[in-house]
Amino acid sequence: MIRDLILKNRSCRRFYSEIIIELDTLRELVDLARLSASAGNAQPLKYILSCNPKKNALIFPYLAWTGYLNDWSGPYEEERPSAYIIILGDTEIKQSFGCDHGIASQSILLGATEKDLGGCIIGSIQREELRKALRIPSRYEILLVLALGKPKETVVIETVGPTGDIKYWRDSKGIHHVPKRALDEIIVDES
Ligand SMILES: Cc1cc2nc3c(=O)[nH]c(=O)nc-3n(C[C@H](O)[C@H](O)[C@H](O)COP(=O)(O)O)c2cc1C
Repeated sequence: MIRDLILKNRSCRRFYSEIIIELDTLRELVDLARLSASAGNAQPLKYILSCNPKKNALIFPYLAWTGYLNDWSGPYEEERPSAYIIILGDTEIKQSFGCDHGIASQSILLGATEKDLGGCIIGSIQREELRKALRIPSRYEILLVLALGKPKETVVIETVGPTGDIKYWRDSKGIHHVPKRALDEIIVDES
């Protein structure tokens, strides 16, 4: 079950933007993050939720999509995410956030996948521009943006080939291919 969910939980960057995501759904997903592990149980993460078109339009311009696809700079208007969850670090609780936001992201995305939604973690963000656009107070560090929606693309996993190339790529039918290293390559010691 968990393997199936993890296999299904692929980074997705094109969505049916006409399919809306309710605020209650975003709150449910953040609740999964709330229940997840946090270093020292400090729980320094805070969240901004967006599922309305006007707010979504303020967020989108400051996100970078697919570093490896040179001929695609991001989804057209009709294929943009229906919602976003912005993960913030509250510097009044902690100055550094370790891997809490990675764990939170995975909890949220697995929850979204279980609901037949999909998304993408975006770390490449024009942070100061986004801060201004949403008037995010300086006490919050902008850590990650999760783009969410009903997936409109097919993503397949394959094994990294002999050249060792890990770059994801898109074929002529628009199918997105993601090479993953083989299990034997990543286990450095076992007994
Ligand atoms: C911390 C982190 C930051 C990421 N930032 C971006 C990003 O800025 N833009 C983007 O299109 N994808 C981003 N991704 C998605 C990765 O490109 C994606 O996870 C990778 O290609 C593997 O695909 P998969 O998630 O389907 O396994 C990010 C992923 C992680 C974990």
